[in-house]
Amino acid sequence: METFLRKKYKLIGTKKTKTTKETETFAVDFASKIKPGKVIGLIGNLGAGKTHFIKGIAKAFGIKKSEIISPTFGIVREHVYKNVLFYHFDFYRLKDIKELEVLGFREYLANEEAVIAIEWADKLKECFEYYDFVVKIEHLGGNKREIKMYKKQHKNEN
Ligand SMILES: Nc1ncnc2c1ncn2[C@@H]1O[C@H](COP(=O)(O)OP(=O)(O)OP(=O)(O)O)[C@@H](O)[C@H]1O
Ligand SMILES: [Mg+2]
Repeated sequence: METFLRKKYKLIGTKKTKTTKETETFAVDFASKIKPGKVIGLIGNLGAGKTHFIKGIAKAFGIKKSEIISPTFGIVREHVYKNVLFYHFDFYRLKDIKELEVLGFREYLANEEAVIAIEWADKLKECFEYYDFVVKIEHLGGNKREIKMYKKQHKNEN
């Protein structure tokens, strides 16, 4: 996975946070700069802060952060604010890509008005090709987290 990130993605920023609020604010700043139609894959261990980061993304698009909770039973939760659709996926319980296809993952991806955020994005390696951004959160102990932001590299870009 690391190798893949190094080859196909470019590190665009690193941020260390000490509170959930700092993590959320950082996510709001990041998401304020992106347009709908983008897919953001999040990587990090249990309790790293993926859901909190997604609360910040949602907030940037006008969705209440209290609405953002991990999809405990399903794989996806859908939110809407004005003309923006926000799809929150959690791949933790996914077995294979087939299960995702049955859910209509391709249709979700094809929606240019939608913002898609995916927890446990590294669960299905085949899905990496769809992520415009990858957010990697590392637990540094206590409340400290290190967030690394990656952007997909397009051809002719270095
Ligand atoms: N700096 C920080 N940034 C984010 N979360 C933090 C931070 N410090 C402490 N926390 C705590 O870490 C936990 C992060 O939980 P969160 O649900 O966002 O993680 P997750 O990566 O989505 O986990 P899961 O894999 O179970 O879905 C929360 O309990 C939160 O209060
Ligand atoms: Mg979560």
